[in-house]
Amino acid sequence: MHAFESFAPGRVNLIGEHTDYTGGLVFPMALDRGITITGTLTQGHVSAVSSNEGEPVWFVLPVDDPASVTPAWGRFLAAAAKRADTGRGFDGRIDTSLPTGGTGLSTSTALTCAALLALRGDGDRLELAKMAKAAEQDATGVQIGIMDQIASLCGVAGSALMIDCHSLEITPVPVPEGLEVLIVHSGQRREIADSAYSERRNACFAAEGDIGPLRCASLAEVETLTDPVIRKRARHVVGDNARVRAMADAFTADDLRLAAQILNEGHRSYAEDFEASTPMIEAVIEQLIVQPGVLAARLTGGGFGGSIVVFAEQGTDPHVSTWWSRATPSAGARIDWR
Ligand code: GLA
Repeated sequence: MHAFESFAPGRVNLIGEHTDYTGGLVFPMALDRGITITGTLTQGHVSAVSSNEGEPVWFVLPVDDPASVTPAWGRFLAAAAKRADTGRGFDGRIDTSLPTGGTGLSTSTALTCAALLALRGDGDRLELAKMAKAAEQDATGVQIGIMDQIASLCGVAGSALMIDCHSLEITPVPVPEGLEVLIVHSGQRREIADSAYSERRNACFAAEGDIGPLRCASLAEVETLTDPVIRKRARHVVGDNARVRAMADAFTADDLRLAAQILNEGHRSYAEDFEASTPMIEAVIEQLIVQPGVLAARLTGGGFGGSIVVFAEQGTDPHVSTWWSRATPSAGARIDWR
């Protein structure tokens, strides 16, 4: 029968935004919230219902073009099946403990990784992450980096992961005990394919055409870029690479004030140089930052909507009208065969 329950978590990125696809550094942590698929393996088709989505998905294998599957949420399952390339499918039910769609907390990655674990079986987690990234690119047509998939598949309980997206070396860094990490929805939904993600990515590669890999570039080299917009985008990326190391060091030294300062600096860079924020997000951050116990706040994820990551003193409850949750640094995906 091969019945299974597959769970893959979402993630929150603490710092290092739009750095992964140029081989830079990121600092995400897997959440204790994610996607669960409960099902039975099949040969030759996938059928799935989701507690969140009205319309069920059904398609036969092999899938030629995952991006043409309808309803659209099924594209991640189709792309996972295509990349898994085992001929296996499943009859399954999908449940989520993440808020729905456009949250910047990697819901689509969690769905893709949970499906891949079932269709491909567990194994080398980095190889699965590469496969999941390729699947998501097939499903959306957006050339995302590998941060979200590594966070979801390789998460370590109690730690954030410093990931070098060039070497794929992962360094778990314990999150200080006195630090409360919160995730707050900005109220602004966005899908990555409809956002300026790809335009920002192109700007980063344009900068690399002039000064070489941004992961090796200095801020002085960035200042030699003649196009003022490309220069700002590159300044953000080079700055965030340095901020990842600085925040990992601040965590190790248990220096919450410094970690908070880096988070705030990261937001200013993301909002002003990368121009990835919006008036609605800025309004929520302004409201958060003055509240008792709140140390710092930053837009997390691909930008232009989604969620805000907040550093706060233990036990702080934010006063916001949108969805929020405490973020517990958690282990990566798991599959149980029944
Ligand atoms: C999205 C992408 C990631 C990464 C972030 C921005 O989450 O999927 O690969 O580029 O945006 O840091």
